Amino acid sequence: MSLAEASTCVELRAATPLLPVVGSDLPVPLVTGESQRFVHLDYAASAPALASVVEAVERHLPWYSSVHRGAGFTSAISSEALAAARHTIRGFVGGRTDDVVVFTRNTTDALNLLASVIPDDTTVLTLDIEHHANLLPWRRATVHHLPTPRRIDEIAGVFATALAGVRTTHTLISVTGATNVTGEVLPIADIVAVARRFGARVAVDAAQLAPHRSIDISALGVDYVVFSGHKLYAPFGTGVLVGRADWLDQAEPYLAGGGAVGTVSVDSAEWLPSPARHEGGTPNVLGAVAIAAACRALSEAGADAVEAHDHALSSHLEARLHELDGVEPVSVFGEGSDRIGIVTLRLPRPAAEVAAALSAEHGIGTRDGAFCAHPLMRRLFGRPADGSVPNALRVSFGVGSTLADLDHFVESLAAVLRDGPRWTYAIERNRLVPSPDPRPRPSL
Ligand SMILES: Cc1ncc(COP(=O)(O)O)c(C=O)c1O
Repeated sequence: MSLAEASTCVELRAATPLLPVVGSDLPVPLVTGESQRFVHLDYAASAPALASVVEAVERHLPWYSSVHRGAGFTSAISSEALAAARHTIRGFVGGRTDDVVVFTRNTTDALNLLASVIPDDTTVLTLDIEHHANLLPWRRATVHHLPTPRRIDEIAGVFATALAGVRTTHTLISVTGATNVTGEVLPIADIVAVARRFGARVAVDAAQLAPHRSIDISALGVDYVVFSGHKLYAPFGTGVLVGRADWLDQAEPYLAGGGAVGTVSVDSAEWLPSPARHEGGTPNVLGAVAIAAACRALSEAGADAVEAHDHALSSHLEARLHELDGVEPVSVFGEGSDRIGIVTLRLPRPAAEVAAALSAEHGIGTRDGAFCAHPLMRRLFGRPADGSVPNALRVSFGVGSTLADLDHFVESLAAVLRDGPRWTYAIERNRLVPSPDPRPRPSL
């Protein structure tokens, strides 16, 4: 089905989840004593697990065992599952046959791994709208955090100007696929085209992009891609770095230990090639099984359907937000840029108060804060006079979300903005929480 065809029928389809997720009918207690079906609108932080991911993990559990050197049959099955997961993930991102798939804990870990393997003589170029995970790991290299232009079609030119001034042997552009604050999608193909002219490599932080859009790194010419299982409906503690083997194979191991070596003496080690080189210790097999199952489920649903579901929800939310005075989605590039299912709002009331009331009084999980993107948040909201970081409200959704979820959000937001909180709240460990909080906790 083409994207256009998918979009026309999706308004109907977004009435139900595109794929079933665990917890979609979970009742949560409210401070008022009632309960309400939990409306999860914080997918960008951590998405709920796909039902098919949980089934895959449960199917594997009886066969779970040590990998690589165990002599038992279950060890053979677990080793094969780990290898099969790498294959599935490589296919999901359109990896080249010789691309390496390294399992990490999450995107942050994957970017730190990449930062640890770049040759010494490398200049790294990033944008100043990146998540901290793509700002902080690059300290060892010569790094330039480039000012992001207001027009999205000027981004490639900003990189071209910076690349023209690079004097080191190697250059790596490390850029987000979609920002975690505004959901705007970056023009990766244009950035790669410029990088190629200057012989630079490109890494894409797809933590937010991968759950919403297809990525084909070989078609795009992207060298590395990283993402997290827990944002891809597979919250079992695994992330990945997929990409070119050479830098990975030449570098010191990221996680030295058993599994990363061939032979060892007390003062020397013969390191294996990647991925094993960087995966010392016992790997998270269930995490790998989970993330591969999520890749399979999203591929089977079809990238067009995932994107169309996303667009239907985004346009519905945008239209409904127009009903509310003083509520405005923020944007880096303005009208017309492609966005995934993430919206950060300018509000007429403090975001912390609104987020707390939405949760405690309406059963809605949003997020307030600066979203680990302080430079971008200061750019969008300005610098508070006390030197702190601005606080805003973010809603984010995905394949388990429905139009009804967004309607409940908009109507609840309207009530909170109109009447204010109906409960009392206090600051505890820097967060506004109900005080008192009578909500019974589940005994887990
Ligand atoms: C764009 C982006 N990159 C990186 C990260 C870090 O991901 P993780 O916390 O899974 O390491 C996030 C998390 O929100 C993100 O949104």
